[in-house]
Amino acid sequence: MSSTEIAREALPQKLKRKIKQSLGPWGVFIEGFIRHPVMVGSIVPSSRFTIRRMLAPVDWDNCKLFVEYGPGIGTFCRPVLDRLGRDGTLIVIDTNPDFIEYLRRTITDSRFIAVLGSAADVEDIVRQHGHEKADYVLSGLPFSTLPDGVGPAIAAATHRVIRKGGAFLVYQFTPRARDFMARHFRRIDSGYEMVNVPPCCLFWGWKDEDEG
Ligand SMILES: C[S@@+](CC[C@H](N)C(=O)[O-])C[C@H]1O[C@@H](n2cnc3c(N)ncnc32)[C@H](O)[C@@H]1O
Repeated sequence: MSSTEIAREALPQKLKRKIKQSLGPWGVFIEGFIRHPVMVGSIVPSSRFTIRRMLAPVDWDNCKLFVEYGPGIGTFCRPVLDRLGRDGTLIVIDTNPDFIEYLRRTITDSRFIAVLGSAADVEDIVRQHGHEKADYVLSGLPFSTLPDGVGPAIAAATHRVIRKGGAFLVYQFTPRARDFMARHFRRIDSGYEMVNVPPCCLFWGWKDEDEG
């Protein structure tokens, strides 16, 4: 924005911009929630306790492609990149263009790819980036409030795209996400993280070696 444009900016807009700037990444997240409450599903990003527990079972030595659905402002992205090997790739997929633009601007790691799109198209997205399968898929999607049919389509596509031995890692405020996973994943471990706003359910759906 040029200095003349800033001077001419109406007071409410100016105030909004100032508040957003002072909140930093939180401002981007809260604005995303205000604009798309159903799609974002939460007003506060995940806690570091949720992040640590969710990522704990990942076998990082055997992870070449990690996919994340609904990264928001990237709460999980840096912790994933810190654990991922130098030859690994992190693809994140979000339907919100403001979040994707923010992530592309703030995360410059060459292993990081931010895609504007729906998790339902994960197979095409993975293929377009030169991979056949993902080792792990992490989801912060609000499964229970997604439009009709979207949750089941995402769960089915995710099961197809994960390699045998890999896993689907899901955190959500209600246990309903497990119902979507259970249609495809025979073995699901679960947990509950109290230190999160609000506390959330954690699930790890494993695609075992003997599966079809
Ligand atoms: C609860 S927020 C996740 C926040 C973040 N991962 C965290 O841990 O703080 C849910 C995110 O899912 C995104 N989303 C909703 N529907 C989606 C879909 N079909 N495909 C990909 N992302 C989607 C929203 O735009 C939002 O960024």
